[in-house]
Amino acid sequence: MSKYQAIRGTKDILPAESVQFQRLESAARALFARYGYAEIRTPTFEAVDLFQRSLGETTDVVQKEMYLFEDRGGRKLALRPEGTAGVVRAFIEHHLSQSLPYCKLFYVGPMFRAERPQAGRYREFWQIGAEYFGNAGPAADAELLALVDALFLALDIRDVRLRINSIGDQECRPKYLAALRTYLTKRSVELCEDCQRRLDKNPLRALDCKTDSPKLKDAPTIDAYWCAPCRAHFAAVGQLLTDSHVAFETDPRLVRGLDYYTRTIFEVTTKVLGAQDALAAGGRYDKLVKDLDGPDVPALGFAMGMERTIQASQAAAPKIVTATPFVFVAAMGEAASRVAYQTLQMLRHSPELVKINLRAEGDFFEKKLGAQLTIADRIGATHCVILGEDEVQKGEVTLRTMNTSSQERLAQKDLVSKLLAVSNLA
Ligand code: HAM
Repeated sequence: MSKYQAIRGTKDILPAESVQFQRLESAARALFARYGYAEIRTPTFEAVDLFQRSLGETTDVVQKEMYLFEDRGGRKLALRPEGTAGVVRAFIEHHLSQSLPYCKLFYVGPMFRAERPQAGRYREFWQIGAEYFGNAGPAADAELLALVDALFLALDIRDVRLRINSIGDQECRPKYLAALRTYLTKRSVELCEDCQRRLDKNPLRALDCKTDSPKLKDAPTIDAYWCAPCRAHFAAVGQLLTDSHVAFETDPRLVRGLDYYTRTIFEVTTKVLGAQDALAAGGRYDKLVKDLDGPDVPALGFAMGMERTIQASQAAAPKIVTATPFVFVAAMGEAASRVAYQTLQMLRHSPELVKINLRAEGDFFEKKLGAQLTIADRIGATHCVILGEDEVQKGEVTLRTMNTSSQERLAQKDLVSKLLAVSNLA
């Protein structure tokens, strides 16, 4: 065994799993198109400062989990721990608020967090995410949640729970935080070191802390502190979700690990995974664009963890629904090899066969015919095209159907139509 292995917390996505990633990605792309989202690709690293300012100085992600480095020019950079900050930076940098009345962007890519690796928690993981700029109304929140709901449905993941809450705005949240701080201060001896330290700047984190939250059952909850506009916004979101048959629960104790949120926040969890049960999460962040020196544009978004979602879907590799033939080309002898090679390339590029996505392989003509057929069998070819001296002389091929081992001779010129007929029959 080589001494080189994938770095702890990272993993190789081998072909069988890649298929699952593709399936998830194409389901998401199809939905994004229907909801009017266009793709954005931002760099995998940004200035550290961007993340500190947007995610919040006291968050776990910023304090403990960023991969930090200095480049050769002495710039302080970080591998992106999430996608929102970079997308917001790009939105501001390219003046996207000026070109259209609103802007809907989605992304697919790897994120990096130096968390303690465990099942479902990686140091490099993939997210599919979306950000919606320029709509402050509750219908935008409901629509985003409907999209998330539809995505899980499209993936046939039904055992999910969508919890929503509002963490208020600059009007009502400070009042709630003051009340929570008072409550926590009274119990500070019971809190873990992290929460004690953050009590002042970020008391909300205690509600999300695995050690402390069970002890804080009687902590004040935000719903008692919402100002009238936040209360009305949240009620309207709930009403629209009910109207559109999106199942959800309200949870006044739900908080998020990133600081940029205002009003609606949400999380999608599943019972089928272990401790790392969050499949997707997000919310509104009406002040972030302005806080990063951009225009005063409200926004909201979500991100879904691809590895966890794939694990939850437990979908077997998608069944091949079209029975498109998978052809292996074999040859005996030098002259036949040349014709076989041309046949192989013809099968890959013939316009009719391109249309049915026919897969063709071969290229092992120097091996004995038996060995070539063994390869065909092992890679799962449905048919073998065999060329020997006799076939070449007569302008014919032998077509072997692998599962029945039956063979027939046909003219080379009829091969394409024969394969098309086979694919139609199935
Ligand atoms: P987040 O809750 O930090 O939100 O991450 C979103 C999802 O990414 C999680 O629900 C989880 O499925 C996945 N995830 C997070 N960390 C890991 C990890 N270490 N290993 C595997 N999967 C992980 C955000 O990132 C926000 N940017 C979402 C958002 C977009 N809010 C507004 N717009």
